[in-house]
Amino acid sequence: MGRCCFYTVGTLSLLLLVTSVTLLVARVFQKAVDQTIQKNMVLRNGSEPFDYWEKPPLPVYTQFYFFNVTNPEEILQGEIPRLEQVGPYTYRELRSKANIQFGENGTTISAVSNKGYVFERNKSIGDPNVDLIRTINIPVLTVIELAHLPFLKTIIQAMLKAYKQTLFVTHTVDELLWGYKDEILSLIHVFRPDISPTFGLFYGKNGTNDGNYVFLTGEDSYLNFTKIVEWNGKTSLDWWATDKCNMINGTDGDSFHPLISKDEVLYVFPSDFCRSVHITFSDYESVEGLPAFRYKLPAEILANSSENAGFCLPEGSCLGSGVLNVSICKNGAPIIISFPHFYQADEKFVSAIQGMHPNKEEHETFVDINPLTGIILRAAKRFQLNTYVKKVDDFIETGNIRTMVFPVMYINESAQIDKMTANRLKSVINTTLIVTNIPYIIMALGGLFGLIFTWLACRGQGSMDEGMADERSPLLRT
Ligand SMILES: *[C@@H]1O[C@H](CO)[C@@H](O)[C@H](O)[C@H]1NC(C)=O
Ligand SMILES: *[C@@H]1O[C@H](CO)[C@@H](O)[C@H](O)[C@H]1NC(C)=O
Ligand SMILES: *[C@@H]1O[C@H](CO)[C@@H](O)[C@H](O)[C@H]1NC(C)=O
Ligand SMILES: *[C@@H]1O[C@H](CO)[C@@H](O)[C@H](O)[C@H]1NC(C)=O
Ligand SMILES: *[C@@H]1O[C@H](CO)[C@@H](O)[C@H](O)[C@H]1NC(C)=O
Ligand SMILES: *[C@@H]1O[C@H](CO)[C@@H](O)[C@H](O)[C@H]1NC(C)=O
Ligand SMILES: *[C@@H]1O[C@H](CO)[C@@H](O)[C@H](O)[C@H]1NC(C)=O
Ligand SMILES: *[C@@H]1O[C@H](CO)[C@@H](O)[C@H](O)[C@H]1NC(C)=O
Ligand SMILES: *[C@@H]1O[C@H](CO)[C@@H](O)[C@H](O)[C@H]1NC(C)=O
Ligand SMILES: *[C@@H]1O[C@H](CO)[C@@H](O)[C@H](O)[C@H]1NC(C)=O
Repeated sequence: MGRCCFYTVGTLSLLLLVTSVTLLVARVFQKAVDQTIQKNMVLRNGSEPFDYWEKPPLPVYTQFYFFNVTNPEEILQGEIPRLEQVGPYTYRELRSKANIQFGENGTTISAVSNKGYVFERNKSIGDPNVDLIRTINIPVLTVIELAHLPFLKTIIQAMLKAYKQTLFVTHTVDELLWGYKDEILSLIHVFRPDISPTFGLFYGKNGTNDGNYVFLTGEDSYLNFTKIVEWNGKTSLDWWATDKCNMINGTDGDSFHPLISKDEVLYVFPSDFCRSVHITFSDYESVEGLPAFRYKLPAEILANSSENAGFCLPEGSCLGSGVLNVSICKNGAPIIISFPHFYQADEKFVSAIQGMHPNKEEHETFVDINPLTGIILRAAKRFQLNTYVKKVDDFIETGNIRTMVFPVMYINESAQIDKMTANRLKSVINTTLIVTNIPYIIMALGGLFGLIFTWLACRGQGSMDEGMADERSPLLRT
């Protein structure tokens, strides 16, 4: 009886250890979990990823920070601008996908991403209908850009004079963001109908979308989950100088494929950036108790490098590291994009303006992604809108101004997963954690039986006779 037990324990221990090692080496449970996730993270009508994609539950806030010009007369005389940051003016974003249509065999889906903005008084420093900001007059800069043709030049010169236009204007936050009717643009509109008479940095962006997308659903491969294949009927852009620069890469940044490994480079096409960008792994993070990979926009995105030469328009006229001339996709308005406060840009941009204080914590762009599901747990997309100013001899409005990239405002679009969604996600992740740990549980059991076996073996060998006596003694006592 005792001998039989002894061998059973030994065999069981060995069997469990061998099984656990086999399972671990073959990655049976890991593969099963991965396969389940790959099969389920697909945009299918009624599936959970589809609902999440259609109506993202993450609350998103857009915060606007303006640069108030304090010394306009001096700037026109050629002095360094002194800017004062004013903000935030915070808006809650309402996001949803619409016009959803599945492709023939479920591998593609077309949709638009609608965005609406609702002002949040509590999270803002003031009232956008009342607060005044003095900033550069972008409509005037735009019409000066238009004045290439000699015939147009005299008209525009006369118009600017007649309407007493100045290079610096004061408007409310609401007007600057959501639009105001500009006198000069209204006149230009008569013979250039493609130029809107209304100017606003976010004019026409409330309750609308940035065009029609065709995404892959992830049905053919989980790596293609929500990858963009077409935007506004085109598979690539046509603004930039090279095919590589014109590529539409990756997702729209609202979702990523599951099972992300940290060596991977992820691609994103944010349409307001007018180009695709990539993000790279930087840190391990934890958000509401969920594990996350922090991915960041690397400095090389806007670096003055050979890869980015195709973004310098006209060809060969690179402005330097940390800025991108997006004039070509903003109807000719001389708009330059950078990170806030010229973070990661050449020092010459920072020192040209008084009031720039770039720092990593406030001004970098990052996204914390749960690597198992690809779901975004926290993110902050930050970028600055600038204009390009220079003295133009034929336009006295530009005075003696220095040539520079002039900041207007920056945006912080941020999101963080709420407790309820986090808890739901946590239960899914914990289940997979238990499943993938089954081999270790088996191994632990094997180890336990091994210990019992050793104990039995030692006891049996050390004092066989004593043991026999011990076994009998209780019987005698009772
Ligand atoms: C999803 O299915 C529902 C009900 O079957 C249907 O009403 C809806 O139009 C479908 N949606 C799409 C995008 O096909
Ligand atoms: C779906 O259709 C496209 C063309 O319409 C084809 O290239 C692709 O192989 C099809 N995929 C499947 C899984 O049938
Ligand atoms: C955006 O539109 C919605 C609905 O039309 C409106 O309630 C909201 O106030 C608008 N937001 C802004 C900033 O104008
Ligand atoms: C935000 O403002 C509303 C009134 O508009 C108020 O009821 C609410 O308590 C405020 N919330 C916070 C967090 O201050
Ligand atoms: C911006 O500057 C102008 C002019 O100095 C001033 O009137 C205005 O109050 C400032 N705006 C804010 C929000 O501080
Ligand atoms: C989808 O994924 C597969 C495998 O990763 C890849 O070979 C294919 O090119 C992808 N399709 C598209 C349209 O990107
Ligand atoms: C798009 O991705 C390709 C690699 O797939 C890369 O060579 C190219 O530089 C990327 N383009 C942009 C604009 O990121
Ligand atoms: C960009 O880089 C090139 C080559 O390294 C250099 O010649 C050029 O001066 C740089 N341009 C600016 C504006 O820094
Ligand atoms: C910015 O790009 C536009 C359009 O390609 C071009 O006309 C303009 O000269 C560029 N601005 C600068 C400062 O390079
Ligand atoms: C957004 O970024 C700004 C600085 O860029 C920071 O002051 C602000 O707290 C951030 N907002 C959120 C919600 O993270």
